[in-house]
Amino acid sequence: MTDPDADRKVADRKVADRKVADRKVADRKVADRKIVLDVRNLTKTYISGDRPLTVLDDVSFAIEAGSANAIVGPSGSGKTTLLGLCAGLDQASKGKVVLAGTPLDELDEDARARLRNEHVGFVFQTFQLVPTLSAVENVAVPLELRGERGAMRRAAELLERVGLSDRLHHYPTQLSGGEQQRVGIARAFINRPKILFADEPTGSLDGQTGGAIEDLLFEINAEAGTTLIVVTHDLELATRTGRVIRLRDGRIVDDGSNVKIT
Ligand SMILES: Nc1ncnc2c1ncn2[C@@H]1O[C@H](COP(=O)(O)OP(=O)(O)OP(=O)(O)O)[C@@H](O)[C@H]1O
Ligand SMILES: [Mg+2]
Repeated sequence: MTDPDADRKVADRKVADRKVADRKVADRKVADRKIVLDVRNLTKTYISGDRPLTVLDDVSFAIEAGSANAIVGPSGSGKTTLLGLCAGLDQASKGKVVLAGTPLDELDEDARARLRNEHVGFVFQTFQLVPTLSAVENVAVPLELRGERGAMRRAAELLERVGLSDRLHHYPTQLSGGEQQRVGIARAFINRPKILFADEPTGSLDGQTGGAIEDLLFEINAEAGTTLIVVTHDLELATRTGRVIRLRDGRIVDDGSNVKIT
């Protein structure tokens, strides 16, 4: 004879156990979705002459999806190096970067390029435009690489948004520094990136243009939920982000919201 009470208890326990298991999976999914960039114990050492030079030293942080973050620090403190490693443009000496759920060290060069094309926008401190392409062609490149239609039209729209609608067919040498930077910004947005790395995006712009570009960065952050990581010396830009990570000599010396910038 079976005991109906005992059977019911076993069944109830199974249901309860399954609920706990389901909740754990759901929690893990939420946790995975929330962290778009996870940086663990990142170290970069160059050999310069015959001596090792450590320019990033055991850096760890995690970035929440949709957040706006600034990285600040003196010249040479490792900001550009850090962005390059986070975006998979360069390889670490030690440590790990997990970008959009994918550990970068497990990918080869081609797979890293595909991941970047799909999820990442990058505004370079030194612009990095292709000299033989016009402004509109430079902006269209990431979409054309994917074989998407309408790349040129969208590139023209983005150039209009950064105030360059009358410079579409200029080549980089025919553009001022600030104009080249705006082309770089338009290019960084064209693939609707999940995460945008911007290295001194307002560095060579006058106050008014810089302000318009800042507004654009935050508008796109709000509209499209794009995560922003901005390297900047611009205190106003840094204070507009929710979090400021401060580097000195390759180490994080401060990491938090409401950090006083000096
Ligand atoms: N390929 C390289 N070989 C050797 N040293 C390098 C190399 N690239 C960068 N460095 C050194 O690493 C350090 C950090 O450079 P990085 O460009 O990351 O600084 P940064 O914080 O971006 O500075 P800035 O504000 O001037 O742009 C610098 O001291 C630089 O000289
Ligand atoms: Mg730099």
